[in-house]
Amino acid sequence: MSALQRRGFLAAAALPALGALPGCGTARPGGAPLHEIELVAYPEAAALRLPGRAPVAAWTYGGTVPGPAIRAPQGSRLRVNFLNRLPAPTTVHWHGLRVPHAMDGVPHLTQAPVPPGGRFVYEFDLPDAGTFWYHSHLQSAEQVERGLHGALIVQERQPPAVDRDLTWLLDDWRLGADGRLDEGFNRPHDMAHAGRIGNVVTVNGRLPQDLAVRRGERLRLRLVNVANARIFSLQFDGHAPLVVALDGQPVTPHAPAQGRVVLGPGMRADLILDATGEPGASHAVGDVFYPRAAYDLLRLVYGADSLRGVALPAPSMLAANPLSEPVLAGAQLHQVRFEGGMMGRLHTATLDGKPMAMAALLRSGKAWSVNGVAAAGHEHGHGDAPAFEVARGQTVRLRLVNATRWHHPIHLHGHSFRVLARNGQPTAHREWRDTVLMAPEEEVEIAFVGDNPGLWMLHCHVLEHQQGGMMASFRVR
Ligand code: C2O
Ligand code: CU
Repeated sequence: MSALQRRGFLAAAALPALGALPGCGTARPGGAPLHEIELVAYPEAAALRLPGRAPVAAWTYGGTVPGPAIRAPQGSRLRVNFLNRLPAPTTVHWHGLRVPHAMDGVPHLTQAPVPPGGRFVYEFDLPDAGTFWYHSHLQSAEQVERGLHGALIVQERQPPAVDRDLTWLLDDWRLGADGRLDEGFNRPHDMAHAGRIGNVVTVNGRLPQDLAVRRGERLRLRLVNVANARIFSLQFDGHAPLVVALDGQPVTPHAPAQGRVVLGPGMRADLILDATGEPGASHAVGDVFYPRAAYDLLRLVYGADSLRGVALPAPSMLAANPLSEPVLAGAQLHQVRFEGGMMGRLHTATLDGKPMAMAALLRSGKAWSVNGVAAAGHEHGHGDAPAFEVARGQTVRLRLVNATRWHHPIHLHGHSFRVLARNGQPTAHREWRDTVLMAPEEEVEIAFVGDNPGLWMLHCHVLEHQQGGMMASFRVR
């Protein structure tokens, strides 16, 4: 085994950062090895520490923002003993993991909210390796913004050989002039426009730090956008990263389009980044999504020595996860149309069964609709008929139509889907995703096999848009 392979092996065998119990990793009779952790949600007065500022209070998993990175091997079973010590009810959603319906963490739909002082045991198998995350799904525009999110990494059986495996949880915070978190959640203006964009960007809950690298090093970078609304478009000055997975699912290794890795809220990308700079050099990693507000996130700073002098072979594709391949011939096709928001067409939608014009919708705290229906909320919105139904084992093709002037990362629960086409043009990689970013006025075609029975959420992951009605359900029966 080369040093490089050994590192990959050790990374795969490493124990979780927090919460490993004695029984962890032991085989259960007749089942997958069980990986058990404790997860406690509670407020922490000094969770976010920014240099030169007073500490910022947040709601946390385990006292830190982000919460502990949960790591478990593919094929194992995860049990999370969750305790809510927040002053509000909550639930935990396992974003992108194909879990059974009862474990999906959607309040009122898959479970009762966990009250303050209450517990819930989440337990599910981990069929797919990849980069996932977990977050609150109750009042998420408030609770995720307050800090309730963390990475969940399911380790491949044969991880690619890399020198370092790094995770960047990209977030932003809206802090007031007093330095505290602005508690005006779900402001009507944010809801009807791009969502709550913050004024302080963090990586792993800290101001972005320069990353020391050595020439010849091969990094795996797991990028996770946990922000409520901010879209990131990262550009690696002087480097040629390859995308090897999207939303946790392997993809043919490829250079990102226009050299930019674009991540809407909820989305992930795994990159293989070879440090090809000269010793002593420094290169910016820029975020250019909002052209008039482009900035350098951080810099890659080269040490004086090299790690290796020879270029490594191109990375091969990661082993595919056991997803059901859509069969398009004869598949049912449904249109899912998203409308609303400012600067769009005059919009009317049905809320709680009543047709309403935009002004009345805004007065009711809504701004968006899915197939003409503004979702009232988890508490009472499930009276709305599902947007579509699919028989178990059948392929469904969805034409997602963004009839708005805004970007929307559309997330489906319980399933990953292939992205087939954008505005009628086939995609280059037919990538698997659980969240697809739609540009204004764009049409995106996706397909998946409904193989996970239940009534599942489909929503925009700009959390203010979700709260503002951009949410629906679909049933696999
Ligand atoms: Cu990441 Cu329905 O959520
Ligand atoms: Cu949206």
